[in-house]
Amino acid sequence: MAVTTASTFSIGLVAGTQACTDSKFKTLSMKFNSANYLKSFSGLKAATSVTCESVSSFLGKESTTALRDSFTQIAQKQNERTDNCVRPQASAFKVAILGAAGGIGQPLALLIKMSPLVSTLHLYDIANVKGVAADLSHCNTPAQVLDFTGNAELANSLKGVDVVVIPAGVPRKPGMTRDDLFNINANIVKNLVQAVADNCPEAFIHIISNPVNSTVPIAAEVLKQKGVYDPKKLFGVTTLDVVRANTFVAQKKSLKLIDVDVPVIGGHAGITILPLLSKAKPSVSFTDEEVEELTVRIQNAGTEVVEAKAGAGSATLSMAYAAARFVESSLRALDGDADVYECSFVQSDLTELPFFASRVKLGKKGVEALLSSDLQGLTEYEAKALEALKPELKESIEKGVAFAQKEPQSA
Ligand SMILES: NC(=O)c1ccc[n+]([C@@H]2O[C@H](COP(=O)([O-])OP(=O)(O)OC[C@H]3O[C@@H](n4cnc5c(N)ncnc54)[C@H](O)[C@@H]3O)[C@@H](O)[C@H]2O)c1
Repeated sequence: MAVTTASTFSIGLVAGTQACTDSKFKTLSMKFNSANYLKSFSGLKAATSVTCESVSSFLGKESTTALRDSFTQIAQKQNERTDNCVRPQASAFKVAILGAAGGIGQPLALLIKMSPLVSTLHLYDIANVKGVAADLSHCNTPAQVLDFTGNAELANSLKGVDVVVIPAGVPRKPGMTRDDLFNINANIVKNLVQAVADNCPEAFIHIISNPVNSTVPIAAEVLKQKGVYDPKKLFGVTTLDVVRANTFVAQKKSLKLIDVDVPVIGGHAGITILPLLSKAKPSVSFTDEEVEELTVRIQNAGTEVVEAKAGAGSATLSMAYAAARFVESSLRALDGDADVYECSFVQSDLTELPFFASRVKLGKKGVEALLSSDLQGLTEYEAKALEALKPELKESIEKGVAFAQKEPQSA
């Protein structure tokens, strides 16, 4: 598999970098069909269309067919363009990353730069992000990369943007909980979301900054104060919990990664992270000990990384990977794909809590439906864990709401 992937990729790179007038380019584009041609700039996902194994690593099985179809359609369009000697163009979505110079921001920017659905990538940070943008801009993928540094450039970084991803803030150090980050990150998220409300109120907003259980409610309050809150477009990114659950279950049960899909509900901190192992696909049986061990490992996986990094931060690479998957899913939904499902922490009526992570169906206007079926027929262990997480999640949500309401902003 590795040989196939590597050779396909290197051929694609040669093809994709040549100008239309270059005879080598013409020859290569004649040699390869449209789906192969797309591989020249879709990077990870391109390789993933070669074998099912690698597809699973980015999107999971359910997304695979739809993604492959959408790639093929895009590739066909692009092939038509190259036949007419026009350089390949991506779909016209603009993505902004706020906190783009950071541990998550940089690899996330790289992964988003590889998406065929992105035409423009805006990188914003209070730290100098020029170097990151210059570096990325040399990658021969179509997305144009622009840098924006400091508050004075924040508004421009958001103009016309379809998806805003927010990993700005401080990460945990050993011994810290996600809630310990509240005092710093709450203000950062509040200020950034105010700018989003002023400059791209229609955009999908992906909140990565912790504590997600509080920063999402903060963002909702800010958007309400600005009169532009659309609950369907505000997302707490919990994809990493799903990615981890899929990985750990596949390892434990010796399953192919492509096959594994575990919904994770609740929130994104400690016991509020509740993997529903009874709903795992494929259906596998676990002993009580395995359920306990896997659940606790998934809940503490972030801490595992924080401790291994010993003061140098929290999960960045796996987080970037997970966030890129969520961005890609959002872009596919915006592009009209009718078959996009992800777990996310969103405004919800599935429980008595106002925000709750569950699987959601994504569409052009954001959340189209919350999947209530995952909450039916829970095991006794899961039902108890669900009840146990509610007080902590409620407290975190209320803390966020209270913070945002304490100093309401002028519209
Ligand atoms: N949702 C998740 O699953 C998940 C997983 C891991 C980490 N996180 C969170 O993501 C956040 C970022 O983590 P990281 O490892 O990238 O941290 P980092 O310190 O490496 O990077 C953060 C970046 O944010 C920038 N920044 C700070 N204030 C800003 C502001 N007002 N405007 C714009 N940029 C600003 C910093 O300059 C820095 O470049 C943390 O809050 C962390 O807890 C979330």
